[in-house]
Amino acid sequence: MFPEHGMIWKDLERELWAARLEDVPWQRGWDYMYWPETEGNLGLVAKAAADQIDNQRILGRKGNPSALKVEGEVQAMVKQILGAPDGAATTLTAGGTESNYHAVKVARERARAERPDLESPEIVVPYTAHPSFDKAGQILGMRVVRVPAGTDFRADVAAMGAAITDNTVMIVGSAPNFPHGVVDPIGELGALAQSRGIRCHVDACVGGFLIPFLRDIGQNVGAFDFSVAGVGSISADLHKFGYTPTGISTFTLRDEADLVHQRFAFGDWPYGHYQTDTFAGSRNAGAVAAAWAVLKHLGAEGYREKAEQIVAVSAALQTGIEAIGGLTVIAPPEAGILVYSSDEFDIVAVADGLAERGFPSRWAKAPPAIHLLLSPLAIDPIYTDYLAALGEVVSGVKAGTIKRVSAEAVYS
Ligand SMILES: Cc1ncc(COP(=O)(O)O)c(C=O)c1O
Repeated sequence: MFPEHGMIWKDLERELWAARLEDVPWQRGWDYMYWPETEGNLGLVAKAAADQIDNQRILGRKGNPSALKVEGEVQAMVKQILGAPDGAATTLTAGGTESNYHAVKVARERARAERPDLESPEIVVPYTAHPSFDKAGQILGMRVVRVPAGTDFRADVAAMGAAITDNTVMIVGSAPNFPHGVVDPIGELGALAQSRGIRCHVDACVGGFLIPFLRDIGQNVGAFDFSVAGVGSISADLHKFGYTPTGISTFTLRDEADLVHQRFAFGDWPYGHYQTDTFAGSRNAGAVAAAWAVLKHLGAEGYREKAEQIVAVSAALQTGIEAIGGLTVIAPPEAGILVYSSDEFDIVAVADGLAERGFPSRWAKAPPAIHLLLSPLAIDPIYTDYLAALGEVVSGVKAGTIKRVSAEAVYS
């Protein structure tokens, strides 16, 4: 309720703390479906940086050199991490959904400019692509064609090629996809796009700030960035494995000339020329300052260390899960997501039993499977506790003492 009389901070603080007690204990490394929050010292650095330029705006930043500085430096660091060539352009957005929206908009506007006769531009995406592409399609009035993925859960390049028509303006690959955590064959998708004269966008919202460092430490993850010919744009979320507070993603175009298709510009009103590269107008520069501080505080070395922790957590979980019996990791957990299932018993009942024991577990629909976001915080003893709980729950499900209570997989 909107109070008639203002409340003192102590009371507000108490109320917030009480509400926070209900939240998933991400500090234990168990994030449910959310991304590793900025823990400990990293969290303090992010908050302090955000406070420094809180209330500065990204729109109207000409009067705020501090906002311009952090924005420009984050853009430069992102381009470097993604291997962008000279002449690339990075936009800082509010989240992965917005970044993917820009990819679809650029494809539509560019096609309109080059092929004015094209009436119904379409995009072709693997069935595993994030729903934000359909959201963008709905907003932009474009058909989104979803093509079944291969049995390895990766984009089926031949099937995507067969789905391309004269109306297709862009294809998409994920690095990795969210439901199964595997990286699509981006090299082949880039080559396909080039051979058909259309755009290729990589949704690296999950892996954009993880895969480069996994590759650095010798992990065998496919190339997904601008080193791949034919990749025209990449979405990469800082607020996922960039470990920055929520509210910041990035959209990078290989060629800044395409910004004209992303940009909204308008002058027919009394106040003068209005221009934005993002969906929102005014935005608080605090999230950008926090990302700037986290990127610089960790440095490449810090990101490599976190990648190493994720690999260790992933290996321990995979071994432990498969040792229980009846459970299989369904795809290589190559980029921060581990998904496991069972042919022998109801995996949803397992997820429900885990939730009851303090390990809320998101499960995917097809195939039914438990979906884990790997956190560098989940080091021993956290995964040991998880595996112990999992073993108990599996015994309970097999014995019929633990049953499914959830109705359907929900992603919201
Ligand atoms: C592959 C992928 N793309 C895009 C998004 C959308 O990101 P956001 O929730 O930041 O809008 C997600 C979110 O989980 C994702 O996993």
